[in-house]
Amino acid sequence: MKRRDLLKWSGLLATTPFLKYPSVRAEASQRIVEVELTAKESLQNLAGPDQPDTRLWLYNDRLGGPFLKARQGDLLQVRFQNQLPVPSTIHWHGIRNVNAMDGVAGLTQDPVPPGGEFTYTVPLKDAGTYWYHAHTMAWEQVARGLYGPLIVQGKDDIEVDQELVLILDDWRLDENAQIDEASFRNMHDWSHNGRLGNWFTVNGRLQPQFPISGGSRIRLRLINAANARVLRLKLEGSQGTVIALDGYPCEPFPLDERGLELATAQRMDVLVDAGPDVFKLQEVSTNQTLTAASFVPDATTRFSFPRPALQLPSVPLPKLELQQARRIPIHMQGGAMGNLREVTFQGETMPLQEAAQQHQKVWAFNGQMMQATTRIADLNLGEWVALELWNDTAWPHAMHLHGHHFWIERKGTILSQKRDTYLMDPGEQARLFFVADNPGLWLFHCHMLEHHVSGMGGIFSVS
Ligand code: C2O
Ligand code: CU
Repeated sequence: MKRRDLLKWSGLLATTPFLKYPSVRAEASQRIVEVELTAKESLQNLAGPDQPDTRLWLYNDRLGGPFLKARQGDLLQVRFQNQLPVPSTIHWHGIRNVNAMDGVAGLTQDPVPPGGEFTYTVPLKDAGTYWYHAHTMAWEQVARGLYGPLIVQGKDDIEVDQELVLILDDWRLDENAQIDEASFRNMHDWSHNGRLGNWFTVNGRLQPQFPISGGSRIRLRLINAANARVLRLKLEGSQGTVIALDGYPCEPFPLDERGLELATAQRMDVLVDAGPDVFKLQEVSTNQTLTAASFVPDATTRFSFPRPALQLPSVPLPKLELQQARRIPIHMQGGAMGNLREVTFQGETMPLQEAAQQHQKVWAFNGQMMQATTRIADLNLGEWVALELWNDTAWPHAMHLHGHHFWIERKGTILSQKRDTYLMDPGEQARLFFVADNPGLWLFHCHMLEHHVSGMGGIFSVS
């Protein structure tokens, strides 16, 4: 074989050893939770017994993802093996992670090539409901099934009889029950409300039934893993109390008849005191009510009900130093039916139409067409920051900040919730406050994954 041919081969076989990144060392007394996640193609029955199996990309062949569980303070150590035909990485959504372990391909690490591997060491500082997902061409890889729940148990967690984790997704399947590949990179989706699916599952199953003990106190941990769909969830047949949003405890409030919006990537924890009867989780974002899941008490009721009322702890606002916060205006623009006509891209001004056709970009911050690594601002370690967001588009956007959690000021009031993903309504103005206390390069982007790839996102440096 000639040398040239040999070189070509070694490229094809992707034998290049993966780069070594600094790993996080466990502190004495810190428990290490070791996990292996192998991403690969997997044939699963997704669309029902009368339909052919669907070719998916999954971790460990698990539809809905392997369920990772650890305790607050643990160090999660994940050996990730990539057996996909394409490069990939894993992002630990909502975790105040070490930057090198954040899993953003091209920013915090090189993508792991096919056949390669990478070990993530993720410190779990906060208890709560989190999830993980691919962060290399996420708009395609997440849509193919590369995600799973990550639950971090805290020692002050409210005591319940049963915990149920529900990861919700809408898949876009074609008439052969396969992932609709023809519509990946569809500019109509990218400039409107993203890739909406046509097959709604919970933990990879259509309308699953969860057996429960009658009268038990249940914590539902709900995760929206859809690419773009904003769900609206309510309970039918029981009362629920929302006790945490995006993993972080919130001032408890009832989940009422109108339901609560759960944008892509957001989580909510709902406390339910089950009665003797079936209750349901319903999706009511459209005018068609869909049952997401049912909870079916077994014949024998183990617990006496009603349960003694629970005194839920109040979650007071901590002292926020908002006056000194450095203000960073972010004017969110673009998309279909918007008012943005021209954008700047790499110093050049062009009509939005041209940006869409030439560069597949349709969204902008402050008139700038954003690329994956466009810098929004350089932040000083420890400073208070106020992101002054103005959603000047015709679409909602689920804005997500990596590595930090933020407080939200809406219509002049600070909400009693701390989040990592905030849903901005069209026309809404809001401020997100946080302390830039985590050094590194962090993404801030819309989690409607098609919006992100087409320009709605940039990075902050913290140093
Ligand atoms: Cu859940 Cu940048 O991601
Ligand atoms: Cu968006």
